[in-house]
Amino acid sequence: MKHFISMQQLSGETINHILKEAESIRKSPITINKQLFAANLFFEPSTRTKMSFEVAQKKLGLEMLDLHTEASSLVKGESLYDTSKTFEAIGADVLIVRHPSDYWIDEIEEEGQLRIPVINAGSGKEEHPTQCMLDLLTMYQEFGNVKRRKVVIAGDIKHSRVARSNALALEKLGADVFLSAAPGFEDDSLHFPYITMDEAVEIADVVMLLRIQHERHIHKAETFDYLSLYGLTRERAAKMKKHAIIMHPAPINRGVEIDTKLVESKQSRIFKQMENGVYVRMAILMHVLKEWGIINENEINKRQALNII
Ligand code: NCD
Repeated sequence: MKHFISMQQLSGETINHILKEAESIRKSPITINKQLFAANLFFEPSTRTKMSFEVAQKKLGLEMLDLHTEASSLVKGESLYDTSKTFEAIGADVLIVRHPSDYWIDEIEEEGQLRIPVINAGSGKEEHPTQCMLDLLTMYQEFGNVKRRKVVIAGDIKHSRVARSNALALEKLGADVFLSAAPGFEDDSLHFPYITMDEAVEIADVVMLLRIQHERHIHKAETFDYLSLYGLTRERAAKMKKHAIIMHPAPINRGVEIDTKLVESKQSRIFKQMENGVYVRMAILMHVLKEWGIINENEINKRQALNII
């Protein structure tokens, strides 16, 4: 049994299965008919991921344990592994972890004695699998699948876990992935072609923008000319294909990577992505709880979609 840590560990088949489940949950909600505790351990700020996990847990009927990291024994030097074991001991059934380190997963996996599943809600600049799954759901709703779709991921690629999770998963699912970045924001470990924003808007089915990840920079990046040089301006957006969509994991820096007028434009799916975050996280929680034998089919209440004759 595996923790839900990385898009790399999931086969195309498993990704498609979870996305189907998420879409089915969107249409007919489900609840779990058993008392279970989900613990949310967020060591980095989060609005969307944390809140949508909480909504997902509430909708499924899970009890929530919310760790306030600044008031916990972590400030006394307790390790993440020992904190996790503590949650296991007091009865948590699943842990949701966001952490600034790229290596916390190794700590959890190497200790190897944790008997409850962990879901990665964002690890350093390496992986953000639940964000990637909600991005994929948004693209599937739009295009059916991502095969041969041209997806341009644009922005601070080097410091973005969203870029890494998405680029590699999209490639696995048959999309043509391109990257676009200001000098210094490229990531040499990703092997996809780099194009300019002017080229991007001409070819893309999806333009996925990313925030400049200032918190992971050694020197604060200058943003004065960023929009006109590297961002999605209104002039560039006007050159996008009619069916093409704009995505962004948010938080958005309006006027930096994207013109503020485009955030809620017809082609933007930014708030749709957030909505999909709830369904995808419900589906991931269900997937993990079933895989670990924590729930079985009889413990799931399915609400049938109303058949109106
Ligand atoms: C992203 C993150 O935290 O990695 N946001 C999110 O989860 N929706 C992207 C970001 O912070 O820019």
